[in-house]
Amino acid sequence: MSLVKVSRLKDVVFEYDNNGLARTPILTGECKDCEIERVSLKPGCDWTPDLYKLEEHNQVFLFMDGEGYVRTPREVFNIDEQAVFVPEFDKEQFTIHCSPKSKKPLMIMHAVSEINDYDLNCLRNARMALPRFRRLSEAWLYKEHNTAENVQQLTLLEHRNLGRLSMGGTIDQGPTEVGSHIHNELEQWYIALPGSKFTYFAEKDGVREEIEIREGDITFTAHSTHHGSWCKEGEAYKYIWFELCTNGYPGDLA
Ligand SMILES: [Fe+2]
Repeated sequence: MSLVKVSRLKDVVFEYDNNGLARTPILTGECKDCEIERVSLKPGCDWTPDLYKLEEHNQVFLFMDGEGYVRTPREVFNIDEQAVFVPEFDKEQFTIHCSPKSKKPLMIMHAVSEINDYDLNCLRNARMALPRFRRLSEAWLYKEHNTAENVQQLTLLEHRNLGRLSMGGTIDQGPTEVGSHIHNELEQWYIALPGSKFTYFAEKDGVREEIEIREGDITFTAHSTHHGSWCKEGEAYKYIWFELCTNGYPGDLA
């Protein structure tokens, strides 16, 4: 059994419907609390996703490539670079549009998570304001002890502020590395954005795996697995991490 599950973009066949929309579930069954799909929307086309009550599901949209906008009854968010969008559950309908001028289809990672008691407590009592739309260039930056000096580390969805979910990113040019580390409570997906090329590794119980990551790939690593990555000269990090904290974060809620 492999430690790292990977969905390779090159292996995905998008089957478009009459509205220019293709939806492909990936990494099915790897995390019991979150389903992931790749969504591709052709230029000039619209997608109005299903809405979920707070008690049902949370959902996150990561715009990986292409251009367009998200339109709610009150606002329009321009997708002019990679960005994340989290709706306010079923409060208002929204539509995702791929610009007719977009050189590529809008490529989206769509996550739909289960709501447990921790989520309910957090989402009802203290959470980020929704809808949340944040471009990579708008993220606040953080530093970690186990990364190379100049790695740019981004926060897109702050831990403890969206129930069990969080999201951020890592950007750098090779040679560089993110050292081996472990998250005992976190299920973790990596989403490699255009321009990415690096090696990812995972270790558990004396087993070590190394895999080459290319742009568009999406990996899943279960909690309690040591992992890290490196870039060689001429390679680059531009990846998003997305996490689900299995049983909720320890300690009091803010
Ligand atoms: Fe990690």
